[in-house]
Amino acid sequence: MTRSRRLFLKALSLEAALPAMVVADHDRPQGSVPVAPMETGASLRRGPYLQCQGPDRIVIRWRSDQSSTNGLVRYGTGLDKLDQVVVATSSRSENHDGLDWHAQLLGLRPETHYFYAIENSKAILAGFDEEHFFVTAPEVGKPRSARFWVLGDCGTNRVNSGNPGKSLSARNGFRKYRSQNPNLDGMILLGDNAYSHGTDAQYQSAIFQVYQDELKNLTVWPCIGNHELTDDYLEIFTVPGKGEIGGVASNSKNYYSWDFANIHFTVLDLWKSEWRNDLAAQIEWLKADLSKTRQQWKVAINHFPPYCDGKYESDNNGFLVEVRQKILPILEDHGVDLFLTGHDHTYQRSFLLDGHYGPRSTFDPQKHMKSNADGVAEPIVKKSGARLGLVTVVTGTAGAEQPADLANPLSPQLNHPAMVKLAKGDQSMRGIRRIGTFLLEISGEKLTGTQIDDRGEILDRFTMIKHWS
Ligand SMILES: [Fe+2]
Repeated sequence: MTRSRRLFLKALSLEAALPAMVVADHDRPQGSVPVAPMETGASLRRGPYLQCQGPDRIVIRWRSDQSSTNGLVRYGTGLDKLDQVVVATSSRSENHDGLDWHAQLLGLRPETHYFYAIENSKAILAGFDEEHFFVTAPEVGKPRSARFWVLGDCGTNRVNSGNPGKSLSARNGFRKYRSQNPNLDGMILLGDNAYSHGTDAQYQSAIFQVYQDELKNLTVWPCIGNHELTDDYLEIFTVPGKGEIGGVASNSKNYYSWDFANIHFTVLDLWKSEWRNDLAAQIEWLKADLSKTRQQWKVAINHFPPYCDGKYESDNNGFLVEVRQKILPILEDHGVDLFLTGHDHTYQRSFLLDGHYGPRSTFDPQKHMKSNADGVAEPIVKKSGARLGLVTVVTGTAGAEQPADLANPLSPQLNHPAMVKLAKGDQSMRGIRRIGTFLLEISGEKLTGTQIDDRGEILDRFTMIKHWS
């Protein structure tokens, strides 16, 4: 018998002879082993993830096991100086057996890099390292370069989705591309974030297990798609529904707006909330929100595109027809520059358009195109003001690509005349059937949109120049 084995057996025999109570050191027989306390270990089930980033605030959320108490966030501007503390609140849900924690940090300085850690009564759960940080937003209205990673229909990370590994491949492609320039200001989800029903468990697989490396230091801005069939989305995400980061208060968890630097973002819910009625609260809010903002750039976000010729064909798809007829005029009336959408698992983007609300047979380039520029050979140039043109982007490729149905001559063929012909386009060239994600960059008067594939290569890049006066 080895010496270590003999010592181990001796320790066991001594432990068995001790009473089941804590023994003070001075009472313990020499060579004995202290009795371990009965407790469960600290367990981090989700996150941490960042929400509602503003110039002076941010929200940090995470999930623990139910035995954890006294959740709090420590933060500070130096890794060795997390000298600020915010107590977190917790909530339970019927959807899972964990405890959800929520901490709002206020009184922060703009454009400042903070490190953070989350802890509970038992242990530090995450942080105290260089990967757990957040950067506050610039002051509202201040022109500053901005970069947002946009993911449409990303939620396919589940075994029976029919798309194994594709969301991870799209993510990996973007990570490779990003390694050349890691600066990012946030992530935007365009809906259908977790197939098939948007349940809490499906969000765990499709979002938190895929993007956790990003979520711990980038704020995620969510949007509802038609696969957010349950209301679990509303519990998972915190959005600035009180107008606390700019914009008019929506007083809703479903749709909201926020400001970042000189950009105004407006996120619509055209799935769970009423919008077909002209007097719907969301429509009233949308008009008020876009009327009030004085930001130089206006970006609208929603799951459903007004024009499309991929999996969905927008002439006859009733939902898309209504988006085109009821939502697009409001965006154009209020000078929105870019409409980010997903739903179709292809990449397509329009010319700079105004006033095209009918089927493709009514599309008149002379009437509806505010510029002939394709954004590649020459930039799309526009001015600030109502009805001076809007570009729609369809990027529903973060989790799957829609294959062509070549056997069916009536199937959509990436040939909508409102869409730009792309150098790397498939079929009729006005779109691309490949997985990928989208990078939105705005710097001064220039907006750049880049679709990046699973290899980290650029599939399309367009530029828009906006003159304020
Ligand atoms: Fe969809």
